[in-house]
Amino acid sequence: MSSTTSIHGMWSSRLAFILAATGSAVGLGNVWRFPYTAGEYGGGAFVLVYLLCVAGIGIPIMMAEIMLGRRGRQSPINTMKSLAREEGSSPAWQLLGWMGIVAGFLILSFYSVIAGWTLAYVFRAGSGLFAGADAAVAQAMFEGLVSDPERLLAWHTIFMVMTTLVVARGVASGLESAVRWLMPALFLLLVVMVFYAAEAGDFGSGFAYMFSPDFGKLGSRFGEALLSAMGQAFFSLSLGMGAIMIYGSYLNSRASIAQNVIIIAGMDTLVALLAGLAIFPIVLANGLEPGSGPGLIFQTLPIAFGQMPGGALFGAVFFILLVFAAWTSAISLLEPITAWLVENRGFSRPRAAALGGSLVWLLGIACLLSLNVWSDVKVFGKGFLDLFDYLTANVLLPLGGVLIAIFAGWIMRRASSADELGFTERSFVYRLWLLLVRFVAPACVIIVFLNAIGLI
Ligand code: PFF
Repeated sequence: MSSTTSIHGMWSSRLAFILAATGSAVGLGNVWRFPYTAGEYGGGAFVLVYLLCVAGIGIPIMMAEIMLGRRGRQSPINTMKSLAREEGSSPAWQLLGWMGIVAGFLILSFYSVIAGWTLAYVFRAGSGLFAGADAAVAQAMFEGLVSDPERLLAWHTIFMVMTTLVVARGVASGLESAVRWLMPALFLLLVVMVFYAAEAGDFGSGFAYMFSPDFGKLGSRFGEALLSAMGQAFFSLSLGMGAIMIYGSYLNSRASIAQNVIIIAGMDTLVALLAGLAIFPIVLANGLEPGSGPGLIFQTLPIAFGQMPGGALFGAVFFILLVFAAWTSAISLLEPITAWLVENRGFSRPRAAALGGSLVWLLGIACLLSLNVWSDVKVFGKGFLDLFDYLTANVLLPLGGVLIAIFAGWIMRRASSADELGFTERSFVYRLWLLLVRFVAPACVIIVFLNAIGLI
């Protein structure tokens, strides 16, 4: 049945798909979330588990997600429904699409708040505010921002409007040229930052912090660390909620999925590692606490920008590029619900995007208030922002990912999956992929889940 095009448009080339999917994957997850989460779990052991998860779970699931998207050619909900029908399985598989929509809403609601911090920091950097800042000044500046709900709301609103506008126009136009230039620029700037960190920071300690695993340091937090590293892999690769699936639905039928996935996951991982190498040497040289939480890069980078020559300009450009990286990720979070509203409710694209964007915006207000006015409101011991982050990265995305793996590996006939991936059933790569999605990925996720809740 698989049709060769999507009603929502198609990528103009294979490169356009790679750029868009990399745009989705590379974002705040790499530069903001990876360093602070690694810092919370002592560095090396976390990084090692993270890399293993990317290779053994993330890559095969990303292949599965793109494959399902391309075969279904619709929003994730309808894709799962029609693929389940095609394979003679239950229509309940569409719930996987719904779970992804919920995860997308929750992620984007806090993602937009953090992207708002990044926007604020463009102006702070550019106005020379960081000049000569030490750790205490940088910390006070950060706290000034997060304790001010009105400022947070303004930035969150601006970011959600930016995101909604692009999705309203259709992701295939616009996104391509943005990612083509900005992604390499961000990459280059990160490399420069790493060099700076090597010069001005304590590079040896930063490097050792990231790459010499010490599982002993984790103690009783071992299970939690495993879950967080796995969750970080899903979050960073944009897996488990349909974002990559819908991008796959706009990919032409001839492109090699496996090759594309290696490139996308490779670039995503490289950016995260570079961000870590830029930040930890500065953290350690300035006596900052690597485990200080979500404010880590916002309290670390200003010290570096405040000391380096031309730091105001460089800092502003850095945060602008980070805003773009966040923007291209946010777009992919809003796309699945928008496509579904167009398909099932007959909405025009702009109306669909506006409705989705408005709901996310509202939910985002709860997140930004949890940083200040509502700081006492706790659900499961967490404020809304932390709760949404934890629930999505550590629960919903891995769960969605496992269900995708199970569908691709067990429900889909081999003839269908091999055909869509462009392999013969007997080829080595296909059999390796099948082994990973059938057994390795589901087993690892389930073991990590059970371990984290203390059952094993
Ligand atoms: N991968 C993005 C990042 O690392 O910033 C965040 C993200 C985008 C997560 C899309 C999930 C998703 F579906």
